Amino acid sequence: MDANRPLLLFDSGVGGLSVLDSVRRILPAAPIVYVADSGGFPYGTKTEAELAARIPALLGRLVERYRPRLVAIPCNTASVIALAPIRAALDLPVVGTVPAIKPAALVSKTRVIGVLGTLATVRQPYVDRLTGEFAADCLVLRQGSAALVQMAEDKLRGTAPDPARIAAELDLLLAQPGGDRIDTVVLACTHFPLLADELAAVAPRPLTLIDSGDGIARRIAFLTTGQAWPADPRDDIAVFTSDLDIGALAPELTRRGLSRIERL
Ligand code: DGL
Repeated sequence: MDANRPLLLFDSGVGGLSVLDSVRRILPAAPIVYVADSGGFPYGTKTEAELAARIPALLGRLVERYRPRLVAIPCNTASVIALAPIRAALDLPVVGTVPAIKPAALVSKTRVIGVLGTLATVRQPYVDRLTGEFAADCLVLRQGSAALVQMAEDKLRGTAPDPARIAAELDLLLAQPGGDRIDTVVLACTHFPLLADELAAVAPRPLTLIDSGDGIARRIAFLTTGQAWPADPRDDIAVFTSDLDIGALAPELTRRGLSRIERL
């Protein structure tokens, strides 16, 4: 394996930076190409057909251009809807993700779990299957939120989230029948860990918030065990699929070592 071949992380927007943080902790020397499909954002309000038509083809072009050693799709929406066609389209290891219902069921004491995801993610039968397999003795309540996705994007561009709006989104989950007993909330969207502090601050009681970031990073580390990494530090790449203005995002990108900006 050529030490310079990067890991390619793919998300609809900047949410996957929450997962990049986990990857950096575990694999600090890994060259990174971080892709934000800004031209397709947001995914959560799109149909399954739109997403399945867009994402595998886009990843095909990205793999041709950047020749990664592995592709990771931390984006829950993309993974739960398009992982099979993505794997079929790419001839290299692909790490997907699923809502972290299994780890949530391992820690919930009340046996009532909340799942916060995008509108597209929470309606997937896949979530029923995960619940049946790993949380059959739990009440699993779901809530989709497009507003939280946008608030996370805005936060990374320097606009502090409005606590009242965060509380209103969380309340849509907690106010469901049985929601008063939720003790564990799965953050089933890459954007939501970026709002973990804000969610915890407005929660009416302590909630355990669980995301998939560290699990994805560990899986990447496992699949690349024994591979060489470059000895020297380098500029990593952030790729956007539209002409959107990067200005306000630049500090968050450079802080994470993504100092080269490219467009697809
Ligand atoms: N960040 C994505 C996810 O993990 C989707 C957000 C969006 O584009 O709606 O599900």
